[in-house]
Amino acid sequence: MKSEFSKKEIAPLRSIEDWEDDLIARYPNPKSATKKKEEYRNYEDSERVSTVKEFYRLNHTYQTYDFVESKEKEFLKFDKREMSFWDAIDFLNTLVDDSDPDTHLDQLQHLLQTSEAIRADGHPDWFILTGFMHDLGKVLCLFGEPQWAVVGDTFPVGCRHSEKIVYPEFFEANPDSKDERFNSKYGVYEPNCGLDNVKMSWGHDEYLYHMMKDYLPEPALYMIRYHSFYPQHRDNAYDHLLNDHDREMFKWVDKFNPYDLYSKVPVPPDAKALRPYYEDLVAKYLPATLKF
Ligand SMILES: [Fe+2]
Ligand SMILES: [Fe+2]
Repeated sequence: MKSEFSKKEIAPLRSIEDWEDDLIARYPNPKSATKKKEEYRNYEDSERVSTVKEFYRLNHTYQTYDFVESKEKEFLKFDKREMSFWDAIDFLNTLVDDSDPDTHLDQLQHLLQTSEAIRADGHPDWFILTGFMHDLGKVLCLFGEPQWAVVGDTFPVGCRHSEKIVYPEFFEANPDSKDERFNSKYGVYEPNCGLDNVKMSWGHDEYLYHMMKDYLPEPALYMIRYHSFYPQHRDNAYDHLLNDHDREMFKWVDKFNPYDLYSKVPVPPDAKALRPYYEDLVAKYLPATLKF
């Protein structure tokens, strides 16, 4: 797949965190009036706005039903690499942002800030672990996958693209939008068929879900699998595909989201001091090595 795309098409964002900064600008923390100014200034970062836009153009153009199927075939065999959880974290952390090293935290810091905020609120240990691993699927970037196939808001493929998805106009260029199998309200799905029967656009969420599905409780798996499904958790754009069980489980997805978006703290957690706690937690739920 890689060779079909130019460098710009693989990596329009300066850093994959630009997508997340853009999310915070799009959905400012309702609880934090003081942060708003800073976030607004962030939004004024016009280079980010234009690279994020280009990123979404590519994402919306190329994330088709067939593309997702091909990525499932390629990555859900988990035959790329075998690593311990901790080696995977180190591997993920090699994804550093070279354009803006001062303002961006490394991946481990984002994971720790998310999980520490969850822990501070007294949630169960599997919820803390979920926060700690939720972006581990971004290792896909290190396997040479383009940014638009790793991060970005996710959405169902195989049915009409909602107008509620950010930059919906870019779906014009997606071949599925002209394909009558895929461009009706339900497309290949039945009303309220349940998300387990729905194919989502491909990225770090779906990949990690499949890696973890035997190890974590169901609410944790929903949080991992749908944490970037903003069209649903912000706008209920795909209510017609959810079943009652999904709606129950989305309470957890909604609970998780603020920790992902708004847990940045001025003083980063001490990764070294926290390591023993997380080592125990990881060992409680996960096997010694994971397949990627
Ligand atoms: Fe994520
Ligand atoms: Fe995240």
